[in-house]
Amino acid sequence: MTTTRIGLATCSALPRLDSDDRPLLAALTDRGVVTEAVVWDDPDVDWSVYDLVVVRSTWDYSPRRDDFLAWAQTVPRLENPADVLRWNTDKGYLRTLEEAGVPVIPTIWLDPDRHLSKRAVHTRMPAFGDFVVKPVVSAGAQDTGRYQPVSAQSRALAIKHAVDLLDGGRAVMIQPYVTSVDTTGETGLVFVDGELRHAVRKHALLTGPVEASEALYAAERMEPAVATPEQVDVAEKALAVAREQVGGEQPFLYARVDLVASDDGTPMVIELELTEPSLWMQHSGTAATLDAFADAIVARA
Ligand SMILES: Nc1ncnc2c1ncn2[C@@H]1O[C@H](COP(=O)(O)OP(=O)(O)O)[C@@H](O)[C@H]1O
Ligand SMILES: [Mg+2]
Repeated sequence: MTTTRIGLATCSALPRLDSDDRPLLAALTDRGVVTEAVVWDDPDVDWSVYDLVVVRSTWDYSPRRDDFLAWAQTVPRLENPADVLRWNTDKGYLRTLEEAGVPVIPTIWLDPDRHLSKRAVHTRMPAFGDFVVKPVVSAGAQDTGRYQPVSAQSRALAIKHAVDLLDGGRAVMIQPYVTSVDTTGETGLVFVDGELRHAVRKHALLTGPVEASEALYAAERMEPAVATPEQVDVAEKALAVAREQVGGEQPFLYARVDLVASDDGTPMVIELELTEPSLWMQHSGTAATLDAFADAIVARA
């Protein structure tokens, strides 16, 4: 009998995985499979030796999305698979969700190919209420800033932020700052093999303009949460649309749907994470999510 071998893909800055994912190594080893953390852009790795590679702590892909997707294509057995990663690493998927009737944060999209003038960028920014400027391809709240239209200085910084991203060839999103993020926070619903396993509440992250940062991701404050039936409904709809878009029958091995509340309390999708979501397993209260994830990985290997 040959031993099953599983690779957990990570980035070079976290060769032993993110602290959230690290317990998977022991959980999988306990299930009798050889498990290794492997750096996705390490040229010396032979990906064909793994029965299954699971994308986990690949936090550094966003400035190199093309390389990341090209790598994903070379891995014989990858979860979530390359087509899913392609669809999910560009937040343009929010438009698709919206068209399919899933509530999302209202968003203005700026395309670098349109070569918008500063003035044109300015006219697309909201006149009332704080707003957010962020790149369409990003992770870990990098390059994400919060601005106030009433302040000329803040508006100027927002324009500079958007123009810098566009000049770098990156598409930009402008959204109203959802104020409930400051009070009730963001709710992340964690799914393993299509089943809701637990939910977490994440506190607000953005206080002001974008800041230069060497960090891979912004430090986040989390706690366990209980999802409401309305939240579960929106999250499941979002996942069903995603499944339809990328084809395939099986539920996603892992998924996290992040929701915020609109002014009237409706849950809206802020992000659907099918690439490298932290599953916040240590915030699930029990080991149930970890066990379910390890079992699902072994079943697919
Ligand atoms: N429109 C918004 N309103 C309030 N907070 C936001 C908004 N957009 C982003 N944020 C904050 O920035 C963080 C990162 O944004 P997000 O869209 O989740 O991108 P990513 O996690 O991929 O960087 C969110 O967790 C939230 O705290
Ligand atoms: Mg997020």
